[in-house]
Parts: sequence; structure tokens; C-alpha cells
Amino acid sequence: MDQARAARRGRLNGRETAPSRFTAAEIAEIRSEFPALAELTYLSTNGLGLLPRRSAQAVATRLDRLTNGGIAVAFADDEELAEETRRRVAHLLSCHADEIAFTRNTSEGILWVAESLPLASGDEILVAQGEFPSSVLPWLGRAQRGVVTRFLAQAQRRITPAMVAAAWTPRTRLLAISFVQYNSGFRADLAALASVAHRHGGLLLVDAIQGLGALRLDAAATQVDFLTAGTQKWLLGLQGLGIFFCRRERLAQLEAMHVGPGSLPQDTDPEDPLAPYDCNFVAAARRFEEGSRNYLGLAALSESLRFIDEIGPARIEARIRELTDYAVAAAERRGCRVESPRGAGEWSGILLFTPPGGRPAKEPDDMRRLMEAMRQRQIAINGREGCLHMGIHFYNTTEEIDRLMQAVDAVGG
Ligand SMILES: Cc1ncc(COP(=O)(O)O)c(C=O)c1O
Repeated sequence: MDQARAARRGRLNGRETAPSRFTAAEIAEIRSEFPALAELTYLSTNGLGLLPRRSAQAVATRLDRLTNGGIAVAFADDEELAEETRRRVAHLLSCHADEIAFTRNTSEGILWVAESLPLASGDEILVAQGEFPSSVLPWLGRAQRGVVTRFLAQAQRRITPAMVAAAWTPRTRLLAISFVQYNSGFRADLAALASVAHRHGGLLLVDAIQGLGALRLDAAATQVDFLTAGTQKWLLGLQGLGIFFCRRERLAQLEAMHVGPGSLPQDTDPEDPLAPYDCNFVAAARRFEEGSRNYLGLAALSESLRFIDEIGPARIEARIRELTDYAVAAAERRGCRVESPRGAGEWSGILLFTPPGGRPAKEPDDMRRLMEAMRQRQIAINGREGCLHMGIHFYNTTEEIDRLMQAVDAVGG
């Protein structure tokens, strides 16, 4: 491999800022996949990612074939599409295809674990204060059966392995945590957290929706037990489809609660009147796919994963680091305070920062004025906690960040 190609492949050499710059032609080619970028300064991938043209085309092609062929098309394509997409997800996560199942969304994956994990009255689940409700509500729902949800306070918007170790008790069974916190963008050290959980005989469940597709995540190396992510944000898929990872050796620890005909082996004899009821479920994460799947979502995801793989996850991550560093410097030059942790291993594509003056907007009117200024300039960005809250993906540019900062300047502190 020549040197230029090696650099483009994003060899990080242990450093977090890779030298893997994209050429102007590459950026133009990438951006041509996202028509919305011609109209909008799109800084909202943390809310909803953009669907690439090629993925939209794959959905349109499938719809066309279904419209014209009905069941003949479904029979011919469904299984192959699901298995091909499963292999692509496994490739992204460096795990086995039989460790992957498809969900409707992030929340469903957490519910699968919450309903299938054998828990006794008095058992505890550890969650961080401020987590997205998907990681919390399924456990509160088990309170009627005596399961205790314990909240761990964040320290300077961080949840560290030492904090988790200190909070773990003999009754703690599982830590449920986001890979990337949706509000601050803090990225958890999954390998170290898995090690804390396992040292105590417990488990780690990860909500990966705010990181997967932007930041590399090796499920085998980190030793996470369960992981779930909707595909509609950084993975550039459609709403209504998510992925679920269950480590091979953990499947047997989950009760077969969430089952249906889709949980049976593919070669179950449809003519045998008893076989469908004999509870001979597949020994794979696919067991959770109880019935028909979201094939249009799978068509989109398969193409989007192919696109992400073509560009290269390491290069995507390096570009997000460069762009977010650029945004942090531009914000700080204006006297904005960046709330998002930015240290090695804890940064992400999400940035939360105050208006100039270094304090969150106190008055709802101030925030409304700021958001209105963004809308008028066609800048898609969110507000949260009196701050600007944005998600930067590889398809963004420094020019877009400049446009955002001009709007911040125009409104003032
Ligand atoms: C951390 C986190 N989890 C879950 C979700 C949404 O999950 P679902 O895919 O179930 O809609 C979001 C959406 O913003 C999120 O930020």
C-alpha cells in the first residue's frame, strides 16, 4: 500500500487526530449523496441523520419490485436481504453475524434485555442520572417485580469506570449506559466499563445510537454484553429499524420471552403440525426477531453500511474529530463555553455549548431568538439546556460551521 493510500485509510498511529484528510473532490462526491445539504446547513445528525441518495434508491427499487411482484419478490429477496445486512452490521461491529438481530428501534433492544434477563426482587440496575429515557424506563417498569433502578450522578458530565465500580453493590446485576450521552456528547469507555461489570459478575448493556456510524466500536474487543441502536441517526438509515447485539455466550442467560415464529430455525417443516410449537428456538440473536421484519429499512441500512464501509470508519471518525475541534475553537473564540467533554477517548460528534458570554441562556425568549436566527438562515440545529446542541457528521464542512458562527455573532451574547 503506498503512503498516500495508507494515510487516507486513517492509520491513527495511536493519535486521535488522524492525518486522513479527504480531498475536495471526495467531499463533493460525498455531499452529492445528500440533497438536503444544498438547502440546509445540517447540524442535526444527533436528531436525525440524512439518508444517502443511494439508500433512498435501494428503498425505491425494492418498493417497485414489491409493487410489481408481491409475494414472488418477498420470497425471493427477504431472507437474502436480512442476512446480507446482518453480515454488514457484524462487520461494522467486528462480531459474528449470529450475534446480531434487527429491532424496530433502540428502545426495543433495551426492552428485550429488560424482559428476558432473569431478575429477582431486590436486584439492582445501575443507570446514569440524565440518561435518555430508553435506558431508564424499561427498568423502572420492572419495579413492580421488585427490581431497583439506582441512579449514578454524573461528575462534570462524565461517567467513569471508577465511579461505576464505587457504586456497584453485591445486588447490582447490570449497568445500562449510552455509548455517547445524547445531551453532552460524552463517550463512555466501554471496554473499561465491561471490565468493571464482569469483575463483579454483572453485565453491560449499551445504547449506541449516538455513536455508531460515527465512532468505531469493536463489540468483541470491548466485551460489551448487549448493545442496541436505532439506524436513523449516525448510521444513515431509516426510522423504524434498529440493530441489537447479544454476545454469543450471553444468549443462554436470557429467558426466551420475546419469541414468535421468526424465532424458529429456518428449516422448520411447515407441514409438521407440531414443529412450530415445540419451542426449538434458534441459538442466535435472531431468536428475538419474532415475525416479519422491516425490509424497506433493511434495504436502506444495507446501502448506508456499504457507503460507510467504502469511506472507511477510521476516516469518518477522524473527520468528525477535525470538524468538531474546528467548531470548538470557533465557539471558544466567541466566548462560548463548550460543555461537551473533549478529552482523548471521550469526545464525539455531539457538541453542546453556551451562547457567547459563557452562560446558558436563562430566558426562554433569548433561546427563541437564537433558534429563530438559525431557522432564518436555514441552519438545522437544536437548542438544549439554554445552549446550542449539534451533531456533526462526516458530510459536514468547516464552511458550514463558519455559517453557524456568523449566525451566533449576529444574535450576540
Ligand atoms: C441516547 C438515545 N437513545 C435512544 C434514542 C431514541 O431511541 P429510539 O431509536 O428508540 O427512538 C435517542 C434519540 O434521540 C437517544 O439519543
